[in-house]
Amino acid sequence: MKLSHLAETLSASKILAISNAVKERVRNGEIIHNYTVGDFDPSIFPIPVLLEKEIIRAYQQKQTNYPIAEGNPELRKVLSDYLQTFQRHHYKPSEILVAAGGRPLIYTTYQVIVDPGDVIIYPVPSWNNEYYAELTRATPCVIHTKAENNFMPTAAEIKPFIRDAVLLALCSPQNPTGTFFSAEQLKAVCELVVQENERRGANRKKLYILFDNIYNLLTYNDGAADPVAVCPEVRPYTIYIDAISKGFAATGVRVGWCYGPEPVIAKMKAVLSHMGAWAPNPEQVALANFLRHQDSVKDFLISFKEKLQLRLELIYNAIMKFKKEGLPVEAIAPQASIYLSLKIDIPGDFTPLLLNEAGIAVLPFSVFGAVNAANWYRLSVGTCKEEDITPLLEKLRHVLENSLATIH
Ligand SMILES: Cc1ncc(COP(=O)(O)O)c(C=O)c1O
Repeated sequence: MKLSHLAETLSASKILAISNAVKERVRNGEIIHNYTVGDFDPSIFPIPVLLEKEIIRAYQQKQTNYPIAEGNPELRKVLSDYLQTFQRHHYKPSEILVAAGGRPLIYTTYQVIVDPGDVIIYPVPSWNNEYYAELTRATPCVIHTKAENNFMPTAAEIKPFIRDAVLLALCSPQNPTGTFFSAEQLKAVCELVVQENERRGANRKKLYILFDNIYNLLTYNDGAADPVAVCPEVRPYTIYIDAISKGFAATGVRVGWCYGPEPVIAKMKAVLSHMGAWAPNPEQVALANFLRHQDSVKDFLISFKEKLQLRLELIYNAIMKFKKEGLPVEAIAPQASIYLSLKIDIPGDFTPLLLNEAGIAVLPFSVFGAVNAANWYRLSVGTCKEEDITPLLEKLRHVLENSLATIH
């Protein structure tokens, strides 16, 4: 059967292919530390208690009609207040659009900006841009970022491609690296975008930044730099994406929001209204009630982040100790999110050996498009039990020592 060009050519997710294969082995009884997923084990990281109560209450109150297409007005008002408190962003409810998580909003951003053949720029490693580029028939321009820049793209790397581009897709804090832009790095990128848009005449499409902000609540020690804060002139060209999926460990609850210049958001509302990828109404009602209690939100975040940071730092510190002892490993100090960037300096893809010999499943950066960042891997702690860390590190040391012995 011949279907559309898109259906016949769309690449399958490399991330899901590995994650599903690991899950299948777990179902078949193997004991595996599955650190491949960008998700949480709810027995370790449950959603906030108040959010859960409000969801149940909304169903009991029969709040089960269609939501308003752009998101319920109460929720958009509460989100506007929440953005002010938690991110110092000043966006009116009419500049905010709600949907069923971050994905439909990223897709809609691409849809309203990119025409087939348009040039888009995104760094690698990064999450899923290659598939959104395929879905919109964009011409991708890929920046291969460097470990010494924490795998964040620099203005100098972006500059050569900027004249033709209509979209610059950025994610900070970034999946898969667990790192974020410094204010200086981000300011230089934003200024480039502003200058380019000033250069373009009134009749040419502008260059927009899709700023995926979905891990913004999960920063450790320092906060992440923010485009409009470091360069207010970039506001008319910036669309922020956010959701409860990561910041509230609520990947399956499905509420996300984006915010940006009203004319762009209005077009996104129109596209999304036909797609119907709305967040379920009870969840919208519940989220508004939860976010109104800003103290509960703050309390949740303190203990949630403490648990994540503990895991990331225990593993990071152990890796750095292994390195000192002469084992072929490297890691980047965790700045944010649930991910650790880990280098295993042994030629080839180390993931099968790690899985088969040590029962540890991680993802190579190549599945995030970074084919040049050989030997770098993403380890997610969203499913990591604290008591598993010591045995995990022992197994890792063992498999590294064995591999070294085989090489020499
Ligand atoms: C950077 C990034 N953006 C967006 C998403 C998708 O979020 P959601 O589950 O809310 O659709 C993910 C999920 O892994 C992500 O890592």
